[in-house]
Amino acid sequence: MKPYVLLNSAMTVDGKIATNNSSMKISGKNDLIRVHTLRKEYDGIMVGINTVLIDNPKLTIHKINCKKSENPTRIIVDSSARIPLDSKVLNDDAKTIVIVSSKANKASVELLKEKCNVIICGSKQVNLKLALDKLYSLGIKSILLEGGSTLNFSMFKEKLIDEVSICIGSKILGGYDSKTFVDGEGFDKNDCINLKIKKVEKIDDDILLKYDVIY
Ligand SMILES: NC(=O)c1ccc[n+]([C@@H]2O[C@H](COP(=O)([O-])OP(=O)(O)OC[C@H]3O[C@@H](n4cnc5c(N)ncnc54)[C@H](OP(=O)(O)O)[C@@H]3O)[C@@H](O)[C@H]2O)c1
Repeated sequence: MKPYVLLNSAMTVDGKIATNNSSMKISGKNDLIRVHTLRKEYDGIMVGINTVLIDNPKLTIHKINCKKSENPTRIIVDSSARIPLDSKVLNDDAKTIVIVSSKANKASVELLKEKCNVIICGSKQVNLKLALDKLYSLGIKSILLEGGSTLNFSMFKEKLIDEVSICIGSKILGGYDSKTFVDGEGFDKNDCINLKIKKVEKIDDDILLKYDVIY
């Protein structure tokens, strides 16, 4: 069994979610409130390690009223246990699970275990199918996937994403190196991911699109 996964992201009109080395504010205040309200409905929030290294996010519910106990578990996909021990996601505001692979340095994993729960899945990169299976057995029945581009691709490739919410901010970023909604090695043109549109909503200057994923 695997948790239900909703991929939520904000992108510019030209499909970018960040520059190559920094985050940026793409959607407006009311979209951020929507995202924090959504976080309340999920057991876990998942991101890739680069998002932690670049943005140092809290991954808590802090744009709306919320008790500490209502924060979802923060899940970080980090094969080599590169996460800095002073990252905000390792603070006491919520539970955190870091998923590493068996190639991670043993001493780093031991230090990390003093701060959070650590799961070992896969030999090189994290085996995402196995990881989701383990998360489900730990009681994480639903996950809000919040990027970045590389993890988004792998999660699609492994057919682990059930639903997509993408908020298009009224901005254009351009740039060869900027991150797009989904990067990675890409799919063959005959093998791309198909979506079924469910809802189109205008939120101030942004447009929210909701899709089911068709595999
Ligand atoms: N606009 C938005 O909504 C939004 C949301 C989130 C993030 N972002 C932006 O996205 C950018 C980061 O994206 P990113 O693509 O560089 O990195 P990412 O997706 O956050 O993290 C990718 C890393 O995850 C690790 N990983 C472990 N197992 C994996 C697997 N099976 N498949 C894929 N990755 C795996 C890999 O590092 P190891 O091999 O070391 O484990 C990989 O390099 C940041 O700039 C951030 O601001 C934007």
